[in-house]
Amino acid sequence: MKISAEMKTIEQVKADVACTFLFEDRKLLDAQMQALKKTLKTKIEALAETKDFKGKEGESVVLYTENRFAACRLMLVGLGEEKKLTLEKLRRAAATAAKKAQSLKLHSMAIEFPNRASATVKESTADISQALAEGAALSLYRYDKYFTEKKEKEPKVERIVLFDGDAKRVKEVRKGAQAAQVIIEAVYLARDLENAPSNEIYPESLAQAAKQSGKRSGFKVTVLEKKKIERLGMGGLLAVNQGSAKPPRFIVLEYGENNKKAAGTAVLVGKGITFDTGGISLKPSANMSEMKMDMSGAAAVIGAFEAAARLQLPIHLVGLIPATENMPSGSAVKPGDIIKHYGGKTSEVDNTDAEGRLILADALGYAEKYKPDVVIDLATLTGACVVALGHFATGMMGNDNGLMDKLKAAGEKTYERVWPLPLYDEYEKLIKSDVADVKNVGGRWAGAITAAWFLKKFVGKYKWVHLDIAGTAILEEPQDYAPKGGSGVGVRLLVEFLRNWKK
Ligand code: BES
Ligand code: ZN
Ligand code: ZN
Repeated sequence: MKISAEMKTIEQVKADVACTFLFEDRKLLDAQMQALKKTLKTKIEALAETKDFKGKEGESVVLYTENRFAACRLMLVGLGEEKKLTLEKLRRAAATAAKKAQSLKLHSMAIEFPNRASATVKESTADISQALAEGAALSLYRYDKYFTEKKEKEPKVERIVLFDGDAKRVKEVRKGAQAAQVIIEAVYLARDLENAPSNEIYPESLAQAAKQSGKRSGFKVTVLEKKKIERLGMGGLLAVNQGSAKPPRFIVLEYGENNKKAAGTAVLVGKGITFDTGGISLKPSANMSEMKMDMSGAAAVIGAFEAAARLQLPIHLVGLIPATENMPSGSAVKPGDIIKHYGGKTSEVDNTDAEGRLILADALGYAEKYKPDVVIDLATLTGACVVALGHFATGMMGNDNGLMDKLKAAGEKTYERVWPLPLYDEYEKLIKSDVADVKNVGGRWAGAITAAWFLKKFVGKYKWVHLDIAGTAILEEPQDYAPKGGSGVGVRLLVEFLRNWKK
């Protein structure tokens, strides 16, 4: 997908379709239609008279232009009421346009920068442009690499041009397009990793993928193999791996070490369970295939690194990804087993399906060695979080309100929204063990919170936020600009958070 910006008018821009946005407000729509009529010389107002197009959200209509237009198709796209316009509505409108273009089997589309949006939306021209490109490009994502029949491999929109006739503004539009190019590719990468089946992406190949991304975009990747993991005493990762034929990996990503002094260090931790069967506490078989996406936290971290490195963000970043399958077998960890984590704390494994926290415990302990200013972990950690928040909000818990506020703000802006759940002291006793420092399950209630409390036991002297992305990473139904399957959630959220980073 190629995103660009051009200084062009709607008559000049070259693409298979030129898209322009119209508002629903009656007077405004009339005025916009009149303006278009001048350039178009068609009876465009018939659209309003027939009520075929009212400028509402989700509406689009394609017209055919005279040949003095460089693009032979013109698409009108509704933005709804002007006063209610938001960045997210712009993403959705661009997605509407892109899906329409895709359905017409077009190869390229041009989107006019809606200059009126600047008056209502508080974000900058660059932000608006970025949102438009994101909405369009992300809605076009498909995971089709394994299809061999042609009909499944229909032509795709491969080029998106943002255009604006104003020389000064187009510079800002270009900034947004450039950031979008990087961010979209990072989200695509995360989605590809999530959607890949577990016979393609397993700990060793996940590490390879991280290495390739590092090479492409400019960050360092060190892969710790089983021997090293044993020497370090990462008992959580080893216990979960015990039942698997495939060895574990502990993947360390590092970017911008030179920025450490001036800007400080953020550690991103991602759950890298490449397939979660539940282990001996076996999951039911219905929908178990979704558990190939139990490494979505890892995918988000790799995607965020790719974007941060390409955008050359001024910060020192460390990524930690404990990676293993969770399998049942004669050698698998069993309920009642007691294990020793990195750093020496012990835990009782009451349920082998609560494996994510076991491997994250090692990583959170290991994070301390970088003396980080903040640690953010992302994990498809609990079904309980999906019960609580569904697919539209990520569960957030942590030990620092300031840090959580920043993630909340980044979530609102990117619409990868996060919502706090309480980590009250009272929940702590639910994971008390009779035989070890802590137990890996807390009973029936508040499952997302007891999981976070387990993690908290291993958190060092740093500001920490845990993001439970179980509902937002794995989509059972498509959303506006994300198809069913892996959403790539976390990439845009983290990049937005890191772009605003101040130590
Ligand atoms: N990977 C799952 C959580 C999950 C469930 C993610 C559904 C996405 C969709 C996790 O490892 C798990 O199985 N958690 C258990 C914990 C329980 C045994 C305490 C759960 O949520 O049921
Ligand atoms: Zn599990
Ligand atoms: Zn899991």
